[in-house]
Amino acid sequence: MEFRRIDSLPPYALGIIDALKKEGRRAGRDVIDLAFGNPDLASPEVAVDKLVEAARNARNHRYSLSRGIPKLREAFANLYQRRWGVSLDPETEVINTIGAKEGFSHLMWVLLQPGDAALVPSPSYPIHIWGPLFAGGDVREMPLRRFDDDFFDTLVEAYEYSWPKPRVVVLSFPHNPTTTCVDLDFMQRVVDFAREREVVVVHDFAYADLGFDGYHPPSILQAEGAKEVAVELYSLTKSYSRPRGPRRWRSSSTRSPSPTPWRGGGWRSWPATPRSWRPWRS
Ligand SMILES: Cc1ncc(COP(=O)(O)O)c(C=O)c1O
Repeated sequence: MEFRRIDSLPPYALGIIDALKKEGRRAGRDVIDLAFGNPDLASPEVAVDKLVEAARNARNHRYSLSRGIPKLREAFANLYQRRWGVSLDPETEVINTIGAKEGFSHLMWVLLQPGDAALVPSPSYPIHIWGPLFAGGDVREMPLRRFDDDFFDTLVEAYEYSWPKPRVVVLSFPHNPTTTCVDLDFMQRVVDFAREREVVVVHDFAYADLGFDGYHPPSILQAEGAKEVAVELYSLTKSYSRPRGPRRWRSSSTRSPSPTPWRGGGWRSWPATPRSWRPWRS
C-alpha cells in the first residue's frame, strides 16, 4: 500500500532514538533514556481527583462540543488575563484541542496548501516540520542558535530569501531544543513584521511556565496588534504534567488574516484548576 506524503517526511528523531535505545537494551547495555521530554512530576492531585470524578459521570461519556466546553474556555481566558494581562473572548478566541501537537497539525491544514510555505526554526520540535508537510505545504528553515540575539534579523533575512514567500512563521519560545528565550520586545517586532508582510505567526507556547530566575516567558498575544496575525498554543503537558489524553488546550486569536474554520475539541470534563507549582513565579 502506498501512503501519501509519508515519503517526503524527514526521519523522526525521537523514533530513531527509541529504536536505538531498544537495540541497546536488547544487547544488554545499560541505557539511560534522555529521548522524550516527558514530565517527571506527577499531575496535581486535584486534577487527578477531578478526572476520576468526571470519568465516573456517565454524562461525560458522550461527544463534547468541537470547540471545547464553555467553562474550560472561560478558565483559560481567565488564566491568560491573570498571567499575561491578555484579554481573550472565550467564545471567539479560545479553542480547546487534545494537545498543542494536535492543535498545531490541524492549524497547518487550514493555513497551508500545496504551493504554500512555512518558515520554521532549525533545529525544531519535529512536529513544527511535519505539520506543514502533512498539510501539503513546504518548509523553509531558519537557523536558531542557543542564546541567539540576532534571531529576528535571521527571520527577516530568511523570509526575504524564501520562495514562495512563507505564508506562516512558526515560533516557539522558550525553545525546544535550544532553550533560547525571547522578550516581549522580540514578540512585538515579529508581530509588526507579520502585519506588514501579511503572514500568520503560530507561536507554540508549550514551555510557557518554564521560566526561571525571574524570567517570565512572554505570550505573543501581549504584543500590540498580535490578534490580527498570531495564534498561540498553550499546553498543560509541561506546566501540569498532563501529556496524552483529554487535558490540553489551545488559546488563540481566531481573528487571523483568514479566519480558520476550526474543528478542535475532544475534551470531556477538566476543571483547569491551576496547581500551586508555577516555576516562573518561584
Ligand atoms: C515545543 C513543543 N510543543 C508541543 C509539545 C507537545 O505538546 P502537547 O503534549 O500539548 O501536544 C512539545 C512536547 O515535547 C514540545 O516540545
